[in-house]
Amino acid sequence: MDKKIETLQNKQREALLGGGEARIDSQHKKGKLTARERLHFLLDENSFEEIGMLVTHRSTDFGMEKEKYPGDGVVTGYGTINGRLVYVFSQDFTVFGGSLSETHAEKICKIMDLALKNGAPVIGLNDSGGARIQEGVVSLGGYADIFYRNTMASGVIPQISAIMGPCAGGAVYSPAITDFVLMVENTSYMFVTGPNVVKTVTHEIVSSEELGGASAHSTKSGVTHFACANEIEAINHVKQLLSYMPQNCEENTPAIVYDPTDEHRPHLNEIIPDNNSQPYDIREVIAEIADENTFLEVHKDFAENIVVGFARLAGRSIGIVANQPAFLAGVLDIHSSVKGARFVRFCDSFNIPLLVLEDVPGFLPGTDQEWNAIITNGAKLLYAFCEATVPRITVITRKAYGGAYDVMNSKHIGADMNYAWPSAEIAVMGAKGAAEIIFKRDITAAEDPNARWLEKEKEYSDIFANPYRAAERGFIDEVIEPADTRKKLIRAFKMLENKVVNNPRKKHGNIPL
Ligand code: COA
Repeated sequence: MDKKIETLQNKQREALLGGGEARIDSQHKKGKLTARERLHFLLDENSFEEIGMLVTHRSTDFGMEKEKYPGDGVVTGYGTINGRLVYVFSQDFTVFGGSLSETHAEKICKIMDLALKNGAPVIGLNDSGGARIQEGVVSLGGYADIFYRNTMASGVIPQISAIMGPCAGGAVYSPAITDFVLMVENTSYMFVTGPNVVKTVTHEIVSSEELGGASAHSTKSGVTHFACANEIEAINHVKQLLSYMPQNCEENTPAIVYDPTDEHRPHLNEIIPDNNSQPYDIREVIAEIADENTFLEVHKDFAENIVVGFARLAGRSIGIVANQPAFLAGVLDIHSSVKGARFVRFCDSFNIPLLVLEDVPGFLPGTDQEWNAIITNGAKLLYAFCEATVPRITVITRKAYGGAYDVMNSKHIGADMNYAWPSAEIAVMGAKGAAEIIFKRDITAAEDPNARWLEKEKEYSDIFANPYRAAERGFIDEVIEPADTRKKLIRAFKMLENKVVNNPRKKHGNIPL
């Protein structure tokens, strides 16, 4: 028996070495951790159970039968994060550049199947040169097997992708289907075609980092939700993200015990400037409303005119969608609509109640927006709110103009509670523009058109630049003093705790894509 145990131990030792010491050193020199080191930092101590440690590839072309590494370039298994079960795969760049072979894909699929059957999140740590070039189509088939599972698991269990190295070609589509993507600055990149192909086809000269680094994808494309300074920061973000989520779509996120204190927040009375075209930072409002230091912003540097993220309110997880008056006056455009819609749909999939903070002057005008389909893209946010069945509360802090009033979780599209601050202005458009249109003839005929315009602007503003017309109709449930907002929200979300809404039965909706 001893000899047999020794054989097992030798095989395990070999697997732990991945592609060998020299390649591990080279990985470290690039400022990267190895696949196993990453799992060590991600999972609770001693919680990792590996599955498929001795799997090897089946390729025989190009002399591959002589080059086999137990594990075949990916470490897979399960463990816990803060005591909660997760399934993980971590690609090992030291083995054939972490490239995806048929068996490498089978290992990933195996843990995805287990995760789906057992209702727990999947976390993928990606670091791979893409399809295993020596294997050809079986490798491509492996990718497709993963994409299919990503799609089937979407909305059932949370899926998170951390990109810790290259992720190119077909490989990008698995992370793209998952719920959240994190990237590490300077050591990770994602693109469908790399700089060489770009140069050949479009004659653009661009580096990998410029084309598909963390900065490009966190600011320009929105492909990544988090750009992290290093791998440890990325790993910590994954853990924090998971703390706001349930294990699967049938559960709620566990609440943290909360001792009620004085929920009055007087600073909220001071945030809105007297001049209604002056900006303020909506994050200041969020910080006062949410439990202290619990706001985790998602997509922080992308489409900054809308702020989305998770927070806790009296210990319970909520999702926040807020217009940002400090950026483009909080206007809705294509990117902010899509960003908001995706976040709303995530929260709704996983039973996370939604809080909307509204200060929106409308949709962004212009040929760029119209020709790139602000109509279709704005409709995504509208659709996402309409179909969401989680508890939904809106607080209008200032402007709620035009179609954007409807879109931002209005009463009419299913919000449960709609509050407004006394500073709210709920109208078809701003008073200046409104006066110009409806009093055009009157203004032009006047002796002093400018003075007449100001007069009419004031008239319109007196009637509509307040929350009371909407409150008279019941579109606003209550006009509240800002300082009471946190208290009101805690009570209202508690009141909505057992909300049940069943949308009409359907195969699936047809969100305007
Ligand atoms: N299939 C098989 N082996 C691969 C591979 C792939 N797709 N990508 C990388 N490798 C291997 C390399 O042969 C090398 O093996 P070695 O350690 O035995 O020398 C090892 O992984 C590391 O690759 P290397 O090129 O030395 O690393 P790098 O950091 O300089 O570059 C990449 C990384 C990903 C940019 C580069 O390897 C690359 O361009 N790979 C191919 C990407 C691709 O076109 N994939 C297929 C389409 S999806």
